[in-house]
Amino acid sequence: CKVRLYHFRVVLKNTTKLCSTKSIVTINGKFPGPTLHVREGDNVNVRLTNHVQYNVTVHWHGVRQLRTGWADGPAYITQCPIQPGHSYLYNFTVTGQRGTLLWHAHISWLRATLHGAIVIFPKKGVPYPFPKPDKEKIIILGDWWKADVEAVVKQAIQTGLAPNISDAHTVNGQTGAVPGCPSPGFTLHVESGKTYLLRIINAALNDELFFKIAGHNITVVEVDSGYTKPFSTDTIFIGPGQTTNALLTTGKSVGKYLIAVSPFMDTVVAVDNVTAIAFLRYKGTLAFSQPVLTTTPAINATPVAENFKDNLRSLNSKKYPANVPLTVDHSLYFTIGVGIDPCATCTNGSKPVGAVNNVSFIMPTTPLLQAHYYNISGVFTEDFPAKPLIPFNYTGNNTAINLQTTNGTRTYRLAFNSTVQLVLQGTTIIAPESHPFHLHGFNFFVVGKGLGNFDPDNDPKKFNLADPVERNTISVPTAGWTAIRFRADNPGVWFLHCHLEVHTTWGLKMAFVVDNGNGPNESLLPPPSDLPKC
Ligand code: C2O
Repeated sequence: CKVRLYHFRVVLKNTTKLCSTKSIVTINGKFPGPTLHVREGDNVNVRLTNHVQYNVTVHWHGVRQLRTGWADGPAYITQCPIQPGHSYLYNFTVTGQRGTLLWHAHISWLRATLHGAIVIFPKKGVPYPFPKPDKEKIIILGDWWKADVEAVVKQAIQTGLAPNISDAHTVNGQTGAVPGCPSPGFTLHVESGKTYLLRIINAALNDELFFKIAGHNITVVEVDSGYTKPFSTDTIFIGPGQTTNALLTTGKSVGKYLIAVSPFMDTVVAVDNVTAIAFLRYKGTLAFSQPVLTTTPAINATPVAENFKDNLRSLNSKKYPANVPLTVDHSLYFTIGVGIDPCATCTNGSKPVGAVNNVSFIMPTTPLLQAHYYNISGVFTEDFPAKPLIPFNYTGNNTAINLQTTNGTRTYRLAFNSTVQLVLQGTTIIAPESHPFHLHGFNFFVVGKGLGNFDPDNDPKKFNLADPVERNTISVPTAGWTAIRFRADNPGVWFLHCHLEVHTTWGLKMAFVVDNGNGPNESLLPPPSDLPKC
């Protein structure tokens, strides 16, 4: 195992897209940011120095951070922000995972431009459990605002209105052409008769996406740093924070093909419906030749999204078994949704709130992990409800009452090494949307999903406990539920939230506290000496 050293300098950079120029926050002047290349088992040292006027933190999305919660990154959950002029060394080891993940800023909406890929190769001498690709390519999907993104979210919070939607989607930082503004779009260069491993990442703030290459099927082999049973598809469904590795085998002749990326929203509210355009171009094909075209699924193509999720299974081989918890110590049922609350300080008189079990999460001003480790009282409570405060039922006429929320910095405590079953029930009361939910510190198994109310008597009988897909972010369907299981084998404080940044802002989040364990091998490591102060 090696130590991988990186220096992330947070700097501003003037960038032109959609024929307009603005200054964006970047790592080392790059958008998307630099890729981390590591091997399973490596120690990663990223020194972050902040040269901008914003507070910054970075999260290594999907890295388990076993015993190193101090390096996880979400502001005020595990650390104080790194203030202008300050620096922090993110020090962690990548244990028991390999594949593709992403890193991104985890404060305000800075991840719009502060994100990049994490490529984790298997240990030296360990092959992939699929045919060795000739080449590997990273594809990062994102979204782009012509306006300053921090101003967009600030205005939304002040007015109590939904934030402006993005102006375009991006593929590796490039938009396609829009009316009045030509743009070549990103080109993926390939040769005929070869196999490529595509490492596809959705780093967008607010959109779940479809991804499709004209004239080619691709074979999914890994999601969220866990191998899957290979399956062939023409369309990938990918939520913010999720990653998908897929094999692309090129044809025998040359050609140019459209790569299309478009949003998914099953009930169309305000969404950036611009399709991002990129191209797959074979060597020997002229840049200006006409591409083979394709269309992505309709914006509300729920069956396509659900079908893609149904096809995902853990590889569950002898070498990579799916260790699904078969017993459950903590059985939790969380409703997730967005409602409207009165707001005296908003110009709009009311504001949207996101709530889990009717509790909208208030960000603390002392990081939860610090409060937990040093036993600082008054920062958070441990009374997060195991089930909704107000009983939820689609068929009952209780919309008004279900919209009521309370708020607080409430956490739920899990015993170290206990097993957890968590049913996430989308309430879909006023904003029918699916919610890509992300859990820090763990991978979880997606053991079941369905539409309507979760039925605690019958649905668990149908759970897949053999080869459910293992991931860190799952899209909970509109008007439906998803059940996950994990083992609480990682001491610390772990954020659970919707990865649509707009919903995180509105409070659709909570945190788990996992006991410190008993022995030195089960306890959280002490905080590093350069841990930022608030
Ligand atoms: Cu990728 Cu808490 O986030």
